[in-house]
Amino acid sequence: MKKVKIGVFGGGRGKVMVDQLLDHPDAELVAVCDKYEPILSNCKKTADEKGVDLAVYSDFDDFIKHDMDAVVLANYATEHATYGVKCLEAGKHIMSEVLPGETPAQLVKLIETVERTGLVYSYAENCCYMKAPFEMWKRARKGEIGAIQYAEGEYMHDCSSIWPKITYGEKDHWRNLMFPTFYCTHSCGPILTVSGLRAVKVVGFETNVNTEEKQMRIAHPEKAGIEMITLENGAIAKSIHGGLKVEPGGWHFQFYGTKGMMQTERYDRDRTPFNMYLESDKLCKGTWEHSVPENDVGAEVENKSTVHGGSDFYTVHCFIEKILGRPDGDWCIDVYTAANMGMIGIMAWRSVLAGNRPMDIPDFRIPAERDKFRFDNACCTPSVAGDKLLPNTSHEVCTFPDEVYEEVRKQWLKEENPISDLF
Ligand SMILES: NC(=O)c1ccc[n+]([C@@H]2O[C@H](COP(=O)([O-])OP(=O)(O)OC[C@H]3O[C@@H](n4cnc5c(N)ncnc54)[C@H](O)[C@@H]3O)[C@@H](O)[C@H]2O)c1
Repeated sequence: MKKVKIGVFGGGRGKVMVDQLLDHPDAELVAVCDKYEPILSNCKKTADEKGVDLAVYSDFDDFIKHDMDAVVLANYATEHATYGVKCLEAGKHIMSEVLPGETPAQLVKLIETVERTGLVYSYAENCCYMKAPFEMWKRARKGEIGAIQYAEGEYMHDCSSIWPKITYGEKDHWRNLMFPTFYCTHSCGPILTVSGLRAVKVVGFETNVNTEEKQMRIAHPEKAGIEMITLENGAIAKSIHGGLKVEPGGWHFQFYGTKGMMQTERYDRDRTPFNMYLESDKLCKGTWEHSVPENDVGAEVENKSTVHGGSDFYTVHCFIEKILGRPDGDWCIDVYTAANMGMIGIMAWRSVLAGNRPMDIPDFRIPAERDKFRFDNACCTPSVAGDKLLPNTSHEVCTFPDEVYEEVRKQWLKEENPISDLF
């Protein structure tokens, strides 16, 4: 059987994908691209240790010419759609890290390029593949809790202590520019995969701002994003994400259906990650299950990686299986669902800026819906938005003198290991 030749674009977070690919029997890691040289040497060293001849590139235009079938996009979160289109145009299947795109226009272009090329697109929303949410997805597919009526998704990750390492003191790094509802798919993603429903409407909220001196010293006045979502069957869901103060950070999901409910264990995740209540044939009488889910997807090749609860194995594995036309590929998140997830955050931000007005979320499967957004690049990145630049907070804007960013950069350079080991 021919192995799938894969390259990785962006080797920070992408290093996790490098490790997964080096271990997967059906993949051949052939190239990595990153403009930061220490990252390339780090990936090369790991490949050498496994006896793999890895090509390294600092320039995307050279990288994309490499002989390969597929690319993993682990570059800047705001640039996945833009580079995804370039990869598809070069004939490569793509797996995209979060987020799927920065603007509605980018998502429309991405969808149309996937359709035209017929290549595989898979969205690596790893929270959907964490042990308990993945089990919820499987149970919901079997209809165990009936029709979803209410759901909650929470993803809290306070990145303050590693802010220098993940923004490098770059004033315009996407993490410094992003609006609070942007990075939404870790919390709203599993709501869509588990329910199997499309988000049709959203009301967005931004919390108040953490202006503690410690936060201001790293130019990171944190606030969380909240999305109240209406699903296509009328169910309501709450999605909350950001860096509010809790350690360890993590995720929490729950789903109420017409026959029962499922929830992840918030505090003792390893013991009983999955909990489910099912009503019996008598009203208000039922039974609870508290269990550790067994894995039945890719079990024969699973590498038992514990990074992100092992979820990064599934994103990579299902992508490879999809390319090879095998059944595990059915667990991939397609481009329409990915775009719907991303649009929740994009439209939620417009809702925040409009005083929490509900916003419709277009169905990009329908060409007429795409036309309304085909040229809509309003966002918080000046080079992308042009004259449609949006503010990245609805509160008073905090600006920082250049010296603050220089100080953050110095802190980063002082790190013993300058490569982010967060992921
Ligand atoms: N799913 C998860 O759990 C998870 C966790 C962390 C990060 N991420 C995602 O992974 C992606 C990468 O995040 P990150 O923290 O590694 O850092 P990042 O976004 O700061 O960096 C991306 C990497 O890509 C490289 N890069 C970007 N554009 C490039 C270009 N044009 N040419 C060459 N190299 C380029 C950068 O040098 C950097 O190493 C982001 O999209 C982020 O959202 C996901």
